[in-house]
Amino acid sequence: MSQKIFAGNWKLNKSPKEARAFVVDLIQKRKLSASLVIFPSAVCLEAIAENAKAAGLQFGLQNAYFEAKGAFTGENSATVSKDLGATYVLIGHSERRTLFKESDEVINKKVKSALVVGLIPMICIGETLAERESNRTIEVLEHQISEALKSVPTESNFVLAYEPVWAIGTGKVASLEQVTEAHHQIFKKLRALGYSEETSILYGGSVKPDNSKQLQEVPHVDGFLIGGASLEVDSFLAIAEG
Ligand code: PGA
Repeated sequence: MSQKIFAGNWKLNKSPKEARAFVVDLIQKRKLSASLVIFPSAVCLEAIAENAKAAGLQFGLQNAYFEAKGAFTGENSATVSKDLGATYVLIGHSERRTLFKESDEVINKKVKSALVVGLIPMICIGETLAERESNRTIEVLEHQISEALKSVPTESNFVLAYEPVWAIGTGKVASLEQVTEAHHQIFKKLRALGYSEETSILYGGSVKPDNSKQLQEVPHVDGFLIGGASLEVDSFLAIAEG
């Protein structure tokens, strides 16, 4: 398996000044060559890009439109982020799916356009509490995977992030059994669709320094997508460096 990935989703937090300070702090404090990725808000992308190399940091947009340019007021371009040095783009985060009504079809278009530009889509999937309580978790995850990857060539390079919606920003982390089952099923589904067994599958949802060690041991957990705990260098590194 490839190196574990530790990705920070900053959501709508931090100014460019704060983003710069984070990177400077990271350069001073990081010890290991863990694979670190930051998804800042779009206005902070350039601030991250400036010193990303020195920090050994990869980065990407939290959302990019499927058209590269044109009359799309308020959207962000994957192409422009690629020009700035971005490696990844986050696609289909549950906040995009629920608050901004992103459909499976739009998510699929975004995955395909990101791949054309040469970005690695980090595709988020996850069940709601109601879906889990009605025993539909695996069905929901498999459906989201199939829809997001419709007509996506099997040799494509992408990352999946399993984030139970009920665990995001709630402090409620999925149990080791729940993560084990979900990651096993996601791995199986990706193989059944013909994608590489090297495809990284991240867990996300209230990952913190005090639960990350155990979660990392779960088979097919290839890293984390971290919200709240990625906002401070110390907690981000405590998760990534153990
Ligand atoms: P959290 O967010 O770590 O704050 O739960 C995770 C995410 O939204 O990606």
